[in-house]
Amino acid sequence: MAERTLIIIKPDGIQRRLAGEVISRFERKGLKLVGAKLMQISREQAERHYAVHKGKPFFPRTVEYLSSGPVLAMVWEGDGVIAMSREMMGSTFGAQAKPGTIRGDFSCSPEGINLIHGSDSPPSAEYEIGLYFSPEEMVSYSFADERWVTGKKS
Ligand code: RTP
Ligand code: MG
Repeated sequence: MAERTLIIIKPDGIQRRLAGEVISRFERKGLKLVGAKLMQISREQAERHYAVHKGKPFFPRTVEYLSSGPVLAMVWEGDGVIAMSREMMGSTFGAQAKPGTIRGDFSCSPEGINLIHGSDSPPSAEYEIGLYFSPEEMVSYSFADERWVTGKKS
């Protein structure tokens, strides 16, 4: 199976009606949406999500932010999707992220109000996908034009 990653359009992305813009960028890149769920993340779930940051000064407000309104949780698939989506997202703070990236184009925040989450490694992706999706909630399928998009024959 190709690599998978957890992408979340955070509460500001939903409130600012940027979900379509973000999805469109992933689609145009050729990546494959295999799971999607509009949901309200609870404080406990946000704490589990950002468990690696527990104890850091920004942990409480980051948990508060992720659970502050509806989000769109998605699983995207493709070889190298984790690194590709991190590049597409841009660096953590919109105020510093490069133009052309999602955060660089749509966020000016120096405080981490940054529209989108993406897993940063295969183990994080596995852990984070498991927080939001059961195996039955993801769908495996092929694109009819796969070889034109990826160069792969199958
Ligand atoms: P994410 O996990 O949300 O995709 O973001 P990231 O990898 O780019 O950044 P990470 O270091 O994992 O931090 C998680 C979220 O915490 C907030 N943050 N604030 N120094 C700070 O004020 C600070 N550092 C991080 C951001 O909302 C970031 O997305
Ligand atoms: Mg992170």
